[in-house]
Amino acid sequence: MAVPFIDLRRFEDGFLESWSERCRQLTLGTQFVGGPAVEAFEARMAAYCGTAHAVGCANGTDALQLALRASGVGPGDVVLLPDATFWATLEAVVNCGAQPVTVDIDPTDLQMDFELFRKAVETYSPKAAILVHLYGWASHRLADYRSFCRERGLVLVEDGAQVCGSEVDGRSVFADCRLATLSFYPAKVLGANGDAGMVLCQDDALATRLRQLTNHGRSSHYGHTQVGWNSRLGGFEASYLSLGLDHLPERLASRRRAATFYRRRLAELDIRCIAAPQGQLENGYLNVCLHSPEVRGELEAVLRQQQIGFGNVYPCSVSQQPGAQGVLAGKIGGAEAERLAKGVLNLPLFAHIEDHELEEVLSTVATALQGIRQ
Ligand SMILES: Cc1ncc(COP(=O)(O)O)c(C=O)c1O
Repeated sequence: MAVPFIDLRRFEDGFLESWSERCRQLTLGTQFVGGPAVEAFEARMAAYCGTAHAVGCANGTDALQLALRASGVGPGDVVLLPDATFWATLEAVVNCGAQPVTVDIDPTDLQMDFELFRKAVETYSPKAAILVHLYGWASHRLADYRSFCRERGLVLVEDGAQVCGSEVDGRSVFADCRLATLSFYPAKVLGANGDAGMVLCQDDALATRLRQLTNHGRSSHYGHTQVGWNSRLGGFEASYLSLGLDHLPERLASRRRAATFYRRRLAELDIRCIAAPQGQLENGYLNVCLHSPEVRGELEAVLRQQQIGFGNVYPCSVSQQPGAQGVLAGKIGGAEAERLAKGVLNLPLFAHIEDHELEEVLSTVATALQGIRQ
């Protein structure tokens, strides 16, 4: 039986009917860009994430660039980022005219290593840092990052594209952040029907700058106080996301159940499956298994043959990408991010994956491993 890596068609009862009705209303209302649907979604997200402001924008990459630019990051500034992240994190830095420096990861939680980060701050005197909450959880040193950056006056942007719905000590992972970003790319835990993103922040003046940047630097319809661009959120995306937010508790429960299933049952097969640090509740964005490169290759061949979907998030560290050459201003640490890239394997995990699909994936992996280990 084939099992997809991800399936975005597992709609809850009544979802499609509600969406059809919303499409009708939105079309009749003709509020296609901005408008009440966007404002309502922004207000709900600010409440959900525990931040004072939530500013919708065109996508998660723009959200990062908006956060950096609204914080005054520009040409000549150094910005630190983890060596294990999606390429967009680096793009946002470079597209602001700033200089990216990568920091290696901690192999225990796969997030940027805090001690190496401190070393990078001493070495490069950065203006800002992007802390990426990768795989559905945050660094076990999250509180240290926040207090260190606050004390040093260092801009900390939290790339939360992969942690919507995750919690730290029983509260939203964003509740104590100063500035964070979200991506609503369809495959995310809260996904749109197209591209969409958001910047979360606590400060009123910062929120105003962010709003202006998303909308041509506007202070009034034809008044432009700065040079921004067009990164506005559309009404259809916002409305679809609001509907998704209504169903988020069920989606999170389903994802977390699958993540726990994998962790428990893969441990019985002696497969290393990374868990969120203590005190954190992951959102179940991804299953993250680590293998030796040889075993991973053989396992992938069997999964492919048996039509079981899988991912390698991500198969190359940022600093080893061809596009990083000539762009990176520096790199701190060893080769943990590269080791991760060579060994990471993600098994199917999505909202409303069924028990029999999970069992199918597991038995395929178990049989394949038996053959590989012989
Ligand atoms: C960690 C991370 N940062 C940034 C992005 C960029 O978001 P988008 O694709 O919405 O531009 C993504 C997702 O695609 C991501 O996973």
